Amino acid sequence: MTASGAPHAIVVGSGIAGLLTALHAVQHGCRVTLVTKDVLEHANTRFAQGGIAGVMFDDDRAEDHVRDTLVAGAGIGDEAAVRVLVDEGPDRIRELIALGVAFDRDASGGFVKGLEAAHSYPRILHAGGDATGTVIEKALVSRLRASAVEVVEHAFLVDLVVAAGRVRGVELLVGDAPGVPGRHETIVADAVVLATGGAGELYAHTTNPPVATGDGIAAALRAGADVRDLEFFQFHPTVLTGRADAAGTAAGAPFLVSEAVRGEGATLIDEHGRRFTFDAHPDGELAPRDVVARAIAHQMELQDERPVLLDATGLRPTEAERRAFLAHRFPTIDAAVRERGLDWAREPIPVTTAAHFLMGGVTTDLFGRSSLPGLYAVGEVARTGVHGANRLASNSLLEGAVFGARAGDAVAADAASGAWPAASAPAPADIPAPAPAADAPAFSRHALQELMWEDAGLVRDEAGLGHAASLIASWRAQPRTPRTERDFEDENLLLVAERAVAAARARRGSVGAHYRSDDAGAVAAAPEKEAVAC
Ligand code: SIN
Repeated sequence: MTASGAPHAIVVGSGIAGLLTALHAVQHGCRVTLVTKDVLEHANTRFAQGGIAGVMFDDDRAEDHVRDTLVAGAGIGDEAAVRVLVDEGPDRIRELIALGVAFDRDASGGFVKGLEAAHSYPRILHAGGDATGTVIEKALVSRLRASAVEVVEHAFLVDLVVAAGRVRGVELLVGDAPGVPGRHETIVADAVVLATGGAGELYAHTTNPPVATGDGIAAALRAGADVRDLEFFQFHPTVLTGRADAAGTAAGAPFLVSEAVRGEGATLIDEHGRRFTFDAHPDGELAPRDVVARAIAHQMELQDERPVLLDATGLRPTEAERRAFLAHRFPTIDAAVRERGLDWAREPIPVTTAAHFLMGGVTTDLFGRSSLPGLYAVGEVARTGVHGANRLASNSLLEGAVFGARAGDAVAADAASGAWPAASAPAPADIPAPAPAADAPAFSRHALQELMWEDAGLVRDEAGLGHAASLIASWRAQPRTPRTERDFEDENLLLVAERAVAAARARRGSVGAHYRSDDAGAVAAAPEKEAVAC
């Protein structure tokens, strides 16, 4: 408790989940400090394009959104968590609207409906065309700045403070910048909420911004919290490639091309113009994301790693109409396409897969509580169980909103009760430590990212995973003293990589985003749960 008697909560991270947690906790009378390693606005949320899924239309049904989520998750999602997500989603969307988020509406004032892969109904709301995350982030940041929440920017989470079996605060590195050493500070609190996002920086190609370095998961692991499902990393199918293709047409950084583009009718074709995704799934381009991503990787293998093509040239009858439609519906993507010298109203554009979203993370109950009293996790850092082995499109903003609000409410209630309940955690799996590689090169983030892409990416097998495990073990054993934010990030990435590879080795069957080419059977159920019949 603070001197005023109000419980003090620290929220780490400033995406939709962290911002809503903070706004809810402060409304309940908590003193809230929000810390973020960059500035508030620079969270992964602002890169979300497609939108937010929710049962907002009279002819949609919650039961269908539940089923779509479980089916996309390859049948191993936690149904109770999915029901919370779907049932509370519409209220959270209305809350976002009340907080200033203007979702796109049609001429009659109704929300514009968007369709994305593996949804049986066009239930995606979007804002600013394809700028949903940016619009949400701006609205919530402006609410937060006007609230009583204290904000500490450029503050990196070094570790959680644990005392007498309970999380009691955070150790931070504040103000670290090139040439300016940061200072270590400890903030004591009654509760800490991790909202630190994912770990796309594990991979050589990712849609995530550079801040996504798994900091929250690594800190939770070091503190002894239960972390699960790190083998489930989702790869987005369509990223405008930064890797040069054979014709040299795709310069520039990789750029996400929303699934909503395929939802509007764009197709995926090989370099001879053939739609190839139907070879993998009857829903073709709108099959679950893991299926489409693997179909693309397979097709690229067949065409000597040259990108496949996303074809939007059938979207409207004439080129002029199409050009106007694409610029209006997808203004951000349209600008990125043009910056790369491409014209998608006239010709297909080259796309490949890239690491996008981590389904696993810090194990939580339905209120964001981790297995460590006083520690909560929300958004991508959390493993709520809603995503199973593969997240349904546009369920991530929804998860951040629903479970962020719940955690903000729970922190206040837990402080009032003084009980600090924790999520139950199963016994950790007994995974033998790999032998470190004798001839490991010196560690670099780039080398780790390339290793993860090659050996623990979209398609894995025991040989590659074993190779990755021993190299990572060698790198972990090399003496280093982290001083800068980047050094600490590297240690976090190495720790998360070690656990993700170990989890991938332990799960011998393929399921959802975890696809093993050495799995003799087809899709195997996860060890700890039976597949849900959907
Ligand atoms: C997209 O717009 O394709 C990404 C949205 C998501 O990850 O659900």
